Amino acid sequence: MKIAVFDTKAYDKPGFEAVGEKTGITFKFFEPKLNEDTVELAKGFDGVCIFVNDTANAAVIDRLHELGIRIIALRCAGFNNVDIKHCYGKIHVVRVPAYSPYAVAEHAMAMLLTSVRRIHKAYIRTRDFNFSLNGFTGFDLYGKTVGVIGTGKIGRVFIDICKGFGMKVIAYDKYLAEDAGLEYVDLPELYRRSDIISLHCPLTEETHYMINAETIGLMKKGVVILNTSRGALIDTDALVEGIKARKVGAACLDVYEEESDIFFEDFSGHIVEDDTLARLISMPNVIVTSHQAFLTEEALGNIAETTAENLLEFEQSGACKNELCYHCGRVDECRKHRLKKCF
Ligand code: NAI
Repeated sequence: MKIAVFDTKAYDKPGFEAVGEKTGITFKFFEPKLNEDTVELAKGFDGVCIFVNDTANAAVIDRLHELGIRIIALRCAGFNNVDIKHCYGKIHVVRVPAYSPYAVAEHAMAMLLTSVRRIHKAYIRTRDFNFSLNGFTGFDLYGKTVGVIGTGKIGRVFIDICKGFGMKVIAYDKYLAEDAGLEYVDLPELYRRSDIISLHCPLTEETHYMINAETIGLMKKGVVILNTSRGALIDTDALVEGIKARKVGAACLDVYEEESDIFFEDFSGHIVEDDTLARLISMPNVIVTSHQAFLTEEALGNIAETTAENLLEFEQSGACKNELCYHCGRVDECRKHRLKKCF
């Protein structure tokens, strides 16, 4: 199989080169993101391998189909950037459902600790030999209530980490994990009771802008919001207003709704066009990382391995357990009951 890998960064290559040698799959690496302007690069390949900020909309899918592409191999878990329904009957889509839930959950906790103990500020201050502690008063996580939205793989690891800190955990999920021994509450109650809110659910029509002016209004004053999931779970303008109003005490963002043309690129020395992002970064109680929660050696290895397994499974048996359900576009309800391809 010949696979065109889009949006390739230096750190992606070693893992894919290693599994390529092992499996015989040829991976050709392209730096540009997949979109309507770059789709022609896929000519002559059997499949494309894409990441979170590539675009597989209807126009791109139609052109990929015309070019003979049979499979889109997402090297990530989220798939909001692929028009799954439009793929139905044309191109199969597989994903990497989990590469390291620990990587993402640990990053969420790293951001939380950095924020509440002002490590990001202290690091800069001591490098300048300024040993003053003014403005660095934090708070204990012990005994605080964390509200976790989405109790899947990452959410559950994050919950375990929080329990290790002696935090009280409440949770919301559309599909309850009855065996998890969690205190599930509805969203309004979660917003009202949580000192810290961490988002671990997928971006869907239903969850789009779930954090907005109205829901921020329900939250405790000083709430810390963590988002390592997808940017558009949060209405960023409403978040900025919430921070300016001193309602939101801090925000830790590994994802941003307008990240696709910005994150993963070096804009140092440039004027950033995005005023909302610039405003957020200017705030002392906001920490932004550029979608790096997944970036551990373990996760990169797993991404390459699972992508290769997906491609081989698809090529050899015609079905793949990590195929996304085109027909209904839902992953949670349908996939586990399905033993064959969608079409
Ligand atoms: P998962 O599929 O194991 O868990 C997602 C959970 O969200 C499930 O329990 C599901 O029932 C729940 N859910 C679905 N619809 C919901 C709704 N409307 N409201 C509340 N909960 C809902 O996924 P996993 O592996 O835990 O990943 C979670 C998210 O993390 C992904 O969707 C992805 O967007 C993001 N992610 C971010 C990464 C990063 O580097 N920042 C890396 C990997 C994933």
